[in-house]
Amino acid sequence: MCVGQIGRALRFAACAAMAAGMNTPTAKPWIEAISAYTPGKAKSDDGRVLIKLSANENPLGCSPHAAAALVDKGASLARYPDPASTALREALGAAYDVDSDLIVCGTGSDELLNLIAMGYAGAGDDIIYVRYGFSVYDIAARKTAANVIVAPDKDYGTDVDALLALVTDKTRVVFVANPNNPTGTYCSDAEIARLHAGLPGNCVLVLDQAYGEYLEDDGPAALELARQHDNVLITRTFSKIYGLAAERIGWCYGQPGLIATLNRVRAPFNVTTAGQAAAIAALGDTDFVTRSRQHNAEWRDWMAAEFAALSNYGVKVIPSWANFLMILFEGNCSAEAAYNGLMAEGYIVRWLPGQGLGSGLRITIGTEDENRGVMAALRKILEAHA
Ligand SMILES: Cc1ncc(COP(=O)(O)O)c(C=O)c1O
Repeated sequence: MCVGQIGRALRFAACAAMAAGMNTPTAKPWIEAISAYTPGKAKSDDGRVLIKLSANENPLGCSPHAAAALVDKGASLARYPDPASTALREALGAAYDVDSDLIVCGTGSDELLNLIAMGYAGAGDDIIYVRYGFSVYDIAARKTAANVIVAPDKDYGTDVDALLALVTDKTRVVFVANPNNPTGTYCSDAEIARLHAGLPGNCVLVLDQAYGEYLEDDGPAALELARQHDNVLITRTFSKIYGLAAERIGWCYGQPGLIATLNRVRAPFNVTTAGQAAAIAALGDTDFVTRSRQHNAEWRDWMAAEFAALSNYGVKVIPSWANFLMILFEGNCSAEAAYNGLMAEGYIVRWLPGQGLGSGLRITIGTEDENRGVMAALRKILEAHA
């Protein structure tokens, strides 16, 4: 081998070594620690389309006015959307009697939850949420390299004392979903006020009201807290009662300092033109929202009573304020067996062992046919395991 050949061989060996090791992109350790979000499935593992009761969507669809607004906006596809979602913010401001400049719209409320964590926490800071809270809090917190602190629950719901016990001078953000997903529990206005009163002023309290519209009174106390204090944000979404999950539209309200931060870090054109138009139309169709709320309340009560009647099979239902029910399987039939059995019968629900809920299934309230169908299927499965 001549000197030139030896040189080439050495260079090749060095490149190979680098490619195999230090030259490979390596994600930051706190990003590696993230478990990617698991969305509610729509198909079985063998590809069958199932009746989807796994993502807390509106079984009645969306307002016909919202659907029409989506189609109308087809003409302006070549133009960027209004970067500030101005008309939508004004419509929200009028609907909730708040200053529209204190609202930020997002690509779903998911985007806003992530931006809040990014804006207020980083390495060395703490972000707290409650065990069995919404899984995006964990992802949003980890992305910032903050310490993730999980407070124990009380009966699957928010325990204010447990949360407050974990607050230190490092706490920057506390996330509370109210009603909570995936358990459906509700923390009273008085308890939320007590939580806020116990937090230092430099800690942002995020009151996630993705299911707020399912409450009989629409949950105004959270907005009042955000109106009165510089460290409270409420987040809401058009994905649930408004039936616009496909368009990804969320919003958030808080005082000027908080809102300025979110506007600094959000994507420039984060809500599509069609989404803005559909959301404005959806907001205006209060009949559709009322009908959706009534349908949900009626069938949630019916489903809860049906599950309660199955207690002899070790089935327990957690009282819910949202558009789904969390059912615990403590008898012969495990949640996993019920999940697989329902899938075989054509229904997909949510089993969340990754969130510590291996013995529970979360079932979205569906249409009358879907509710009756899933109950009949579950009864059959329970009887087979008895
Ligand atoms: C509690 C809670 N917050 C926020 C979201 C995010 O909703 P979206 O990003 O569709 O607005 C969800 C969605 O399931 C949720 O359950």
